[in-house]
Amino acid sequence: MSRYVRKNIAAIEGYIPGEQPQNSGFVKLNTNENPYPPSPLVRSALRRAADGSLRLYPEPLSNSLRSLAAERFGLRAENILAGNGSDELLSILARCFVGQGDRVVYPVPTYTLYDTLIAIQEGERGGVDYPPDFSLPEALYSERAVLTFLCNPNSPSGTLVSLKEIERLAGSVSGILVVDEAYIDFAEGEGVSSIPLIRNFPNLVVLRSFSKSFSLAGMRIGLAFAAEEIIADMMKVKDSYNLSRLSLIAGVAALQDLPWMRRNVARIQRSRKKLARRLKKLGFRVYPSQANFVMARREGQNLRGLYEGLKRRKILVRYFDVPGLQDSLRITVGTPQEVGALLKELESIEMDT
Ligand SMILES: Cc1ncc(COP(=O)(O)O)c(C=O)c1O
Repeated sequence: MSRYVRKNIAAIEGYIPGEQPQNSGFVKLNTNENPYPPSPLVRSALRRAADGSLRLYPEPLSNSLRSLAAERFGLRAENILAGNGSDELLSILARCFVGQGDRVVYPVPTYTLYDTLIAIQEGERGGVDYPPDFSLPEALYSERAVLTFLCNPNSPSGTLVSLKEIERLAGSVSGILVVDEAYIDFAEGEGVSSIPLIRNFPNLVVLRSFSKSFSLAGMRIGLAFAAEEIIADMMKVKDSYNLSRLSLIAGVAALQDLPWMRRNVARIQRSRKKLARRLKKLGFRVYPSQANFVMARREGQNLRGLYEGLKRRKILVRYFDVPGLQDSLRITVGTPQEVGALLKELESIEMDT
C-alpha cells in the first residue's frame, strides 16, 4: 500500500512541501477556502461544546446532523450520510463500489482525488476529455462503468453542467453516478443542484461539502444524498465514529444559520465578477465560473513562471504541472482586498516582463 501514500499527499490540492502558508503572510488563493469566517453561531456552539463531554465518543450515525439536513433539503435522514469531509465520502464510495479492474469514468480535467481513489482500489480509470468549452462530453453517455464521477461545478474550470444534462446522464450510465457538488452553493440561479433528482434516480449520489460555502474546511464535514439502499451500503463501509463531536456541532450550527452562508456566497460572487473582468483585461481567457475560483488561461503559454513570480510576492494560486493545464492558473476568489493584491502583483509582473 505504501506506493500510494506519496500519490495521496501529492493529490492534496495546493499541498506545498515544507511550507505552512496559513500563518505566514501569504495571500492564500490556491485551495478554494472561503475567505470569510464561519457563522458566529458555529463559533459559539463550538466554544460551549469544548468541555468535559469530549471524553465521550460522538454519535456513530451523526443523526443530529442528518436529521437537520433532511429537514433543510426536504428528504429523510435515511437518504443522507455524513462524512469527515466530502473526501471521506468519495473514499467510501470507491471502497463500496470499485473492485480490482472495475471501470470508473469521468470527464477530465477534474478533481485529482478521483484518480488516487481508483488507483487504491486497483480499478480502471476511464478519463473522457472535456471539449475546449468544458461542456459535457457526448461520449460520457455511452460509457460503461461501475461509477461515473461528475464534479459540478467542475474544478479546475468552474463550469456548470445543467440539471437536464445530469438527468440524461443519470438515466444512461450503467452504474452509479456521483455528482460532486462541493462548490454548488456558489452557482447563480435556482434549481441547479441535483439533490432533488435522487427521488427519481436510484443510482444517483450527490455530495456536498461544508468546507467551501460554510467556511468550515478545518472541521471536515460533508454530506452524501442518495436513495436509502445506497446510503445503507455506504454506512457499512464508514468508520464507526467518522465525525468528531465538534464537527457534528459545527455542522448543525452551520445549517441553522443559512443566511450567514448566503451572504458570504453573495460577496464571493461579486468579487468573482470583478476578478474575471480584470483577468480578461490582462489578456487571460477566463472560463465562466460558478464556483469560488476562476480558471485563467493563456493558450499555449506555460504559466509556471507567473505562478512562481506570484509566490515570491507571497500570493499563492494553483498551478497544475500536467499536460493540458500548464497554460492555466486556478485562482480562489478571496476578499476584495486579496483579489486587489493579486491583481496588483499580476499587473506589476506583467510590467516587468
Ligand atoms: C471537487 C471537490 N470535491 C471534494 C472536495 C473535498 O472537500 P472536503 O473538504 O469536504 O473533503 C474538494 C476540495 O477541494 C473539491 O475540490
